Amino acid sequence: MNDNLQTNFAKLREVEMAYLDVGTGPVVLFLHGFPFDKSMWSDQIEALSSSGFRVIVPDLRGLGETKATREVSTMKEMASDAAALLDHLQIVEAVVCGLSMGGYVAFEFAHLFPTRLRGLVLAGTRAPADNEQEKAGREQQAQTMLRAGMVPISIATLPKLLAERTRAAKPDVVKRVRTMITRSDPKGAAAAQRGMAARRDYTNDLPDINAPTLIIVGREDQIRPVSDAEFMHERIPDSRLEVIEDAAHMTNIEQAEVFNDAVASFLNELTH
Ligand code: MLT
Repeated sequence: MNDNLQTNFAKLREVEMAYLDVGTGPVVLFLHGFPFDKSMWSDQIEALSSSGFRVIVPDLRGLGETKATREVSTMKEMASDAAALLDHLQIVEAVVCGLSMGGYVAFEFAHLFPTRLRGLVLAGTRAPADNEQEKAGREQQAQTMLRAGMVPISIATLPKLLAERTRAAKPDVVKRVRTMITRSDPKGAAAAQRGMAARRDYTNDLPDINAPTLIIVGREDQIRPVSDAEFMHERIPDSRLEVIEDAAHMTNIEQAEVFNDAVASFLNELTH
């Protein structure tokens, strides 16, 4: 991440939240995935803040520099933290952009604070809740993190997070994603993992999302495949779908320029 960016801290609710606040203009709130942190969005911060947007990027509770306060960090708590951050900055409304876990948090935000949602970007995420097997897998992973740290999960998930071509041709991207995972706090990551297992099914929320919505998915995403994106696109009234080629789960890093162009044109239509 650009070393000139200064991390701010705000005491909100029960957390001391780390965040970046860059640029001026209509606000875009970026919500990162799991087990990542605000640096996940560095390509977007640079591109959008220099194109007339104010970019707010928190570390969600338990990840990055924001500490977890409980053994389970729910998606609802994360969404309420994000709203409290906007309050702290005296921002009334924002376009909310969430990737994967950040998408679950964005669903909660849309449900809890619909009048604050100017637009929605949902990347690499899905509406249905976990089935029992997926929940059990998350609990097992949480226990592995607490016992053995983050290296085992980075080894297990990297091949799914990044497309084969990314892994072969972009060693810097591989390194960046691996570093983000391995430096995460196992306790905070386990709490987020348990929070995702406990999340509700957002399917019934989809027809009620009134804000214009851009859905993004990587053509090769095995974690949240194109069918999950199509499912949301069919149910969110004012939505469009962008499938990004040569990318898997981390579309915003693997194909940063394509991702940024899609988001920037959506934002420009929405705000100008
Ligand atoms: C993420 O990238 O945030 C995770 O893959 C989300 C999940 O495990 O459901």
